Amino acid sequence: MKASSNDTTSGALAHTFAERLIAWQAEHGRHDLPWQNTRDAYRIWLSEIMLQQTQVATVIPYYGRFLERFPDVAALARAPQDDVMALWSGLGYYSRARNLHRCAQVVVAEHGGRFPADPETLATLPGIGRSTAAAIAAFAYDAHAAILDGNVKRVLARVFGIEGFPGAPKVEREMWALAESLLPQRDLPAYTQGMMDLGATLCGRGKPRCGECPFDGDCVAHATGRERTLPTSKPKKTQPERYVDVLVIRAGERVLFERRPDSGIWGGLWSLPELTPPTDARDPDDALLRARLTEHAAALGAKLGAVQSVLPLHGLTHVFTHFKLHLRPWLVTLSLTGAPTSANDDNHAWLDGAGVAAAGLPSPIRKIADALSLHPSGTAQLSLPT
Ligand code: ADE
Repeated sequence: MKASSNDTTSGALAHTFAERLIAWQAEHGRHDLPWQNTRDAYRIWLSEIMLQQTQVATVIPYYGRFLERFPDVAALARAPQDDVMALWSGLGYYSRARNLHRCAQVVVAEHGGRFPADPETLATLPGIGRSTAAAIAAFAYDAHAAILDGNVKRVLARVFGIEGFPGAPKVEREMWALAESLLPQRDLPAYTQGMMDLGATLCGRGKPRCGECPFDGDCVAHATGRERTLPTSKPKKTQPERYVDVLVIRAGERVLFERRPDSGIWGGLWSLPELTPPTDARDPDDALLRARLTEHAAALGAKLGAVQSVLPLHGLTHVFTHFKLHLRPWLVTLSLTGAPTSANDDNHAWLDGAGVAAAGLPSPIRKIADALSLHPSGTAQLSLPT
């Protein structure tokens, strides 16, 4: 984590952060959501579980129906699982409903039907993570505990200029420490709600409304024009890379092409024969690689003549959605000594320039073929060289 370069500024901000947030929440925050204005841990817990990964507007009707059918934790604990699932149906992430039911049973069986007040114990219950435990404990019991959900991570990353993907363990650890250091001594429910409200409204994922924000003058992201780039997005997975040696087996003006199997990349298209299994060798002087190329080319062009030379051509890279393919073409020249009778079948064709122009080739293979500047021979395509 790289925090603001100006520690004095962020230190001063940390000092007034909670006070300003609570004042902003009182005036501009949300006060009438169905799970507010209660200290009933059951109702608060239920709302927090429903609000994991689900919008407030979607949750509200489910929350009402659920409470009508299961007004307290005991009623939920003794209900058949099917009834619980039926009332959850449509909210998604159904493991939440199964954990909710199990959690109610644990609260009844092991905690006398009362949700524990300390966040550490709450976090041992099914479906309750560290942030949810803190929210329940703060709202129901005024616990001095920090929440850190996606909205809060966004607020902290922007206001304090924290770089790095917040899902990365190191960044997350730093954010937990910061979130805890910012907690006020009192008004934990208002503070916690303020964090949620700011992240869900002004400091949303889309266009933040910095002009209305209580931290406008001190926000690192705003001051440095990084509202859009903080928090740092999840790093893209590095694409796997594959190296494939392809053979450009040339006999006179013709080159041998091979039809790809129907499944897999370039299925059904004409391509150049590949060295299989692929090799990791990168060194064009690698003796074993050259021996394998020669052997493979000889097998394919056997009756046409001996392998005269094997020369590396310019390689090229083709980017697919899920991997990068590095093609390493090798020009294998055959001496036309033997009887030209082999290798044309359903899956093999000796093509001259005209044949290549007419064939369905994957674009990187076409680039390789174009570079060879083959000439049309004027004879029938897909026929053997004469
Ligand atoms: N998201 C998670 N918890 C919430 C709450 N208590 N109020 C509004 N949105 C929330």
